[in-house]
Amino acid sequence: MDYPNLALIGFMASGKSTIGAALAARLEYPLIDLDQRIVEAAGCAIPSIFAAEGEVGFRAREAAAAYEAAAEPRWIIACGGGIVHNAAALAHLAARGRVVWLRLGEEVLARRIVADGPGRPVIDDHVEALTLTAVRRRVRELLDQRRPLYEAAGGLAVDLDGLDVPAAAEAILARLAAEACS
Ligand code: S3P
Repeated sequence: MDYPNLALIGFMASGKSTIGAALAARLEYPLIDLDQRIVEAAGCAIPSIFAAEGEVGFRAREAAAAYEAAAEPRWIIACGGGIVHNAAALAHLAARGRVVWLRLGEEVLARRIVADGPGRPVIDDHVEALTLTAVRRRVRELLDQRRPLYEAAGGLAVDLDGLDVPAAAEAILARLAAEACS
């Protein structure tokens, strides 16, 4: 099956990069990870970009990376969790391909974020310590803000709770195939 670009969106720690890599291997498409692209272009890590340029500066870099990625057909594009705050860039990704929303429950997300450790300023800068209780509260707060934006993105929502990376990739491919037949 021939797909246009697949842009993976979803909350932090929903597996966009790892599942993106599995999808890239299955479809033999290149993978572009927007966070990685931003870091390469800036020459410094995401927390340093937030510290120097604020979230506004980071979002501008994220939008530029999204437009660059959307220029090529048949890429898997792993977006950062906050891409939904870049409405124009997200609409551009949707116009140039299919948006897939990797959806997971907040408890799983909070546990993964704690396990990953620091490195995400939208979490780190809003908690006193990276404890499960504090992260859970922050995840809930952000999800309340962002859920309507993920819903409005018009992507294919795929529930991934309980699935490992290969199974998640299969679930996404099955949903895309079903969509193509309907
Ligand atoms: C962000 C998510 C991060 C990264 C940045 C901001 C967010 O990507 O883009 O720290 O606002 O949700 P991941 O979703 O890959 O963690």
